[in-house]
Amino acid sequence: MVRTATLAAATASLLLSNTVHAEGLYTKNSAVLQITGLDYDRVIAKSNYTSIVEFYAPWCGHCRNLKPAFESAAKSLAGIAKVAAINCDDEMNKPFCGQMGVQGFPTLKIVRPGKKPGKPSVEDYQGQRTAKAIVDTVKDKIPNTVKRITDKNLNEWLAEDNETAKAILFSDKGLTSATLRTLAIDFAGLIPIAQIRNKETEAMKMFGVQKVPTLILLPGGAKDAITYDGEMKKEGMVEFLSQITPPNPDCPPEKVKKPKSKSKKDEKKASASQKSADASSTAASTKGETVEEAVKPVVSPDPEINDDEAPKPVIIPEEETKPKIPLVAELAELQLSCLNAKSKTCILAILPKDESSEAAASALSSLASIHKKHDARAGHLFPFVGVPASNPLASSLVAELKLGNEDEVHLIATNGKRSWWKKYSGQGFGSLEVEQWVDAIRMGEGKKERLPDSLLAEEAKVEVKEEKVADQEPFKIEIEEILDDEETKEPETHHEHGEL
Ligand SMILES: *[C@@H]1O[C@H](CO)[C@@H](O)[C@H](O)[C@H]1NC(C)=O
Ligand SMILES: *[C@@H]1O[C@H](CO)[C@@H](O)[C@H](O)[C@H]1NC(C)=O
Repeated sequence: MVRTATLAAATASLLLSNTVHAEGLYTKNSAVLQITGLDYDRVIAKSNYTSIVEFYAPWCGHCRNLKPAFESAAKSLAGIAKVAAINCDDEMNKPFCGQMGVQGFPTLKIVRPGKKPGKPSVEDYQGQRTAKAIVDTVKDKIPNTVKRITDKNLNEWLAEDNETAKAILFSDKGLTSATLRTLAIDFAGLIPIAQIRNKETEAMKMFGVQKVPTLILLPGGAKDAITYDGEMKKEGMVEFLSQITPPNPDCPPEKVKKPKSKSKKDEKKASASQKSADASSTAASTKGETVEEAVKPVVSPDPEINDDEAPKPVIIPEEETKPKIPLVAELAELQLSCLNAKSKTCILAILPKDESSEAAASALSSLASIHKKHDARAGHLFPFVGVPASNPLASSLVAELKLGNEDEVHLIATNGKRSWWKKYSGQGFGSLEVEQWVDAIRMGEGKKERLPDSLLAEEAKVEVKEEKVADQEPFKIEIEEILDDEETKEPETHHEHGEL
């Protein structure tokens, strides 16, 4: 018997599961550039800028924990590097995240231009997940094409291409800042940029530089040098150098679909405005497809993958607003929902006789709150089921899987279809710890044990044998299996949508 399941809740989940685009973690106004698998090649891989890309799922606890640091890193790196995020829970991004070898959430990758255009070098970011660590690491990765000039080689450098513009930053620093390195990338092939230390007294004298930092522009030919008098910030410096020539676009322009008006003039206008948007990564970051959180699901611009109707919030009766997970006391009921040869992933909390024990209460409430969180985000999650000691399968599970003491709570994940199970072995049943374990299961991480057939309902055993091959497949298949499970999963017995 399922004690807390309600029809209303099941209906709510059906409506919500129609969302094609899962709601992203970042809001429309976030400094984090929200990209899709389709944008990646143009916006990141083909960019002259260095990027850090977060692969995430909105339901993942670590991703939510990372969010403030990532937002703050994006603000610090505005105009210097791209800070982007891709929602791997979104149907349209799933294949791409698989291709990128994403094995857990969040995964952070640093992508920077390689030797061949469009063939970037990609590496996992393994550092601390703080804004400072992210900013420092990304800045370090920005290529340096700024020429270091001393009194000795100044004249030689000035004589090279002396008819076209050059720029010099006078500085007391021995290192080249990320801002100057990015400025050099912006004007690569247009305005060569050099850095001269203030100890190079002849150079300082030649240009009458009194203080550092000072940026000067040599327009070329016999024209006088111009001194920049604005703030030493990227934006102002770009504007200053733009009096000679506009900067390179950091990435190729978006292919503009033929506008409805057939006029050539309009097309030109559209591509020109696109170019200028791409030229600045700050501008680019406002272009993501994601909308404000908890407002409305994103509607795809492609009618083919667009669902008929956006899900509507469903009003749940009062008594259902406290999160609970179903307790399944009958053997057949549990076999039907989770322990048969066709059943997909389930999380089972096997309870001791004393259902009111602290551990039992804690495990049940953690599971309920995790599930509630997913539901509120219209994420799909496998069923969570409480198995009271009165269910004969409780003691069979404890014995056959050698879980240990029957007086304790045991948390396991099972998948009848693929004949595996996993045990939770964390400290206590706090929701953070349990959620990490659940996230790992979603990503197919960790070792799986063989689920004995004796624990599964008799019928359809043949099919289990056929399916077993899949367990030997490499990880990529596994990710698909999990994603696949999410798509085809039946609505859960428990749902609650108070947050919508
Ligand atoms: C540029 O270089 C050429 C050849 O070295 C020289 O003749 C010319 O005077 C230079 N022009 C300036 C403005 O320094
Ligand atoms: C990137 O830099 C090169 C110069 O190194 C420049 O020609 C190009 O326009 C820049 N932008 C793109 C999108 O390649």
